[in-house]
Amino acid sequence: MDFPLIVGNWKMNSSFSESLVLTGSIQKCIEQVKHVNIVLCPPAVLVYPIFDHLKARSKNIYFGLQNIAWEDEGSYTGEISAKMVKGVCDYAIIGHSERRGIFLETEEMVHKKIKYCLKNSITPIVCIGEDERFLLEDHYKAEVKRMSNNGGILDQIEKIVDLIGADQIPKLYFAYEPIWAIGTGNAATGAYVSTISYTIRNYLKFKHKVDDQDIKIIYGGSVDQDNVKEYMLQPNIDGLLVGKSSLKAKDFCKICQITSEVKSGKGL
Ligand code: PGA
Repeated sequence: MDFPLIVGNWKMNSSFSESLVLTGSIQKCIEQVKHVNIVLCPPAVLVYPIFDHLKARSKNIYFGLQNIAWEDEGSYTGEISAKMVKGVCDYAIIGHSERRGIFLETEEMVHKKIKYCLKNSITPIVCIGEDERFLLEDHYKAEVKRMSNNGGILDQIEKIVDLIGADQIPKLYFAYEPIWAIGTGNAATGAYVSTISYTIRNYLKFKHKVDDQDIKIIYGGSVDQDNVKEYMLQPNIDGLLVGKSSLKAKDFCKICQITSEVKSGKGL
């Protein structure tokens, strides 16, 4: 089984000098954290200088982009392609709800971006999530139906499988990020996330014959050092996508540390 993946999505935050301090501090404390893979996603313009600056990079620190173009090159003013960051970035966040909502990114764009990531051996972290909280406890069956409706999380997955083929699913991560939980402080409970993850897994297992160990689902939405343990104690959650709490080295390291402890059985 892969180590849990903790992704820090800095969004449009941090200056060049702040980013070096932040990365340096993370690097220092991560040296002690075992069995966790960490992906730092600074603003794209800072990726190369940070990568250069971190001469002795810990083996478990990787870089990722927060967004990527759907072509390798061409007349796309302002865009950055997978081909350009190959060798520096191993991951890219695709279809974050802020990209879909604010920058009007469509399903079609998301699909093309996944394809170009895979073409360039960059692991896509594909965001999916619902606007409104599911009523899982009392209406599980009806809510699974809602997930399959046009635009629902299972429908989004179905369209991705359609495009890339079920055999490519092991090459990506799904980031389950309920929109109501992102940046609100209103995080989903561990049980809620685990149930959604279980539903997605079952769907991929039974409908598309994907092996359980090949399905990787991480959670994002107001993750912090106080709730991280709750997620890591659940089955079906393979890591976390962290926004706000990834901007403070101390908080982010604590999240990585707790993840490592719980997953290795020390923090129980
Ligand atoms: P948050 O952001 O941790 O600040 O809620 C998560 C995300 O947007 O990926």
